[in-house]
Amino acid sequence: MVTAKAWVLKKHFEGFPKTSDFDLKKIELPKLKDGEVLLESVFLSVDPYMRPYSQRDMKEGDIMIGTQVARIIESKNPAFVVGAFVVANSGWRTHFVSNGKDLHSLPSSWPESLPKSLALGTVGMPGLTAYFGLLEVCKVKPGETVLVNAAAGAVGSVVGQLAKIGGCKVVGSAGSDEKVAYLKKIGFDEAFNYKTVTSLKEALHKASPDGYDCFFDNVGGEFASVAIHQMKKYGRIAVCGAISQYNDSVPQKGPYVQFPMILKELQMEGFIVHRWNNRREEGQKALLKWVLEGKIKYHEQITEGFENMPAAFIGMLKGENLGKAIVKV
Ligand SMILES: NC(=O)c1ccc[n+]([C@@H]2O[C@H](COP(=O)([O-])OP(=O)(O)OC[C@H]3O[C@@H](n4cnc5c(N)ncnc54)[C@H](OP(=O)(O)O)[C@@H]3O)[C@@H](O)[C@H]2O)c1
Repeated sequence: MVTAKAWVLKKHFEGFPKTSDFDLKKIELPKLKDGEVLLESVFLSVDPYMRPYSQRDMKEGDIMIGTQVARIIESKNPAFVVGAFVVANSGWRTHFVSNGKDLHSLPSSWPESLPKSLALGTVGMPGLTAYFGLLEVCKVKPGETVLVNAAAGAVGSVVGQLAKIGGCKVVGSAGSDEKVAYLKKIGFDEAFNYKTVTSLKEALHKASPDGYDCFFDNVGGEFASVAIHQMKKYGRIAVCGAISQYNDSVPQKGPYVQFPMILKELQMEGFIVHRWNNRREEGQKALLKWVLEGKIKYHEQITEGFENMPAAFIGMLKGENLGKAIVKV
């Protein structure tokens, strides 16, 4: 008999999440039936969406939503051998049983030397978000100028590097000098610390006096309200995330987007990466190739220990992560 540990949402978040909003539970797992596998989580993903989606999709007492890289430790399903690694969507738990339908094997070309945690980051959902957002929503072309915020994070760092591969000029903003130095190291043309600039408008103008063809927005709120005025005529805005608003108890009010959108004839499109689930293999293959060729660099902020999952989640929302936030179970 295996006893799993799981983090449950004890109380819906009010404003910024607190460690007291979570509870650690033990769950006895049943014996495997034919067709089932037993898995052990190895890496858990720490993602911003958990904050708004918990409000929308969960009730108090539910196991926190989330994905993991997990190892198969027992199998009664011929499609999954013991020792294999998969990506699962089984929430914040150390062990779980699956019938295999919701498990994604790592690409067969995954080299042994590459951390499997990348299947949750640069070569996983955040990397795919950058890939499809830039390709299909921003539709970037060589020679264009791309702006991305939360640029040193899991999605943003891939956006910038993909835009460079695509022959663009890239400007990124991030919340610390260490993150800004990292962005310059991985090839961003311009980067600034949005928390210390005296004027966001001036910083955006200085980084690209001609304005921006594409804006990959991970942050929303005030940043987006200022950046929209720096777009070039016919610019495209990919609305990927709104992390500056996820912890608001009272919704933020305007300024509103209609005027700059009309005057500059902008396109603005929200998207969710799952729109391209049918092209997941294509995206992963491309990202894996660029990582192996050294054209996409990655950084992971790894927190050790399942017991630290709530702290890692809160830390990520506070901006403590450089690159992808991961918990090693
Ligand atoms: N549409 C989709 O399908 C999709 C998929 C994945 C992610 N997303 C969204 O993409 C965004 C980035 O996700 P990620 O996984 O790459 O996370 P991440 O950037 O690795 O981590 C979150 C970062 O957001 C920044 N941040 C936090 N609070 C902020 C605030 N009030 N104002 C400005 N920046 C703030 C922090 O960086 P700084 O230190 O730079 O502030 C923090 O490190 C999120 O909005 C997420 O919801 C959307």
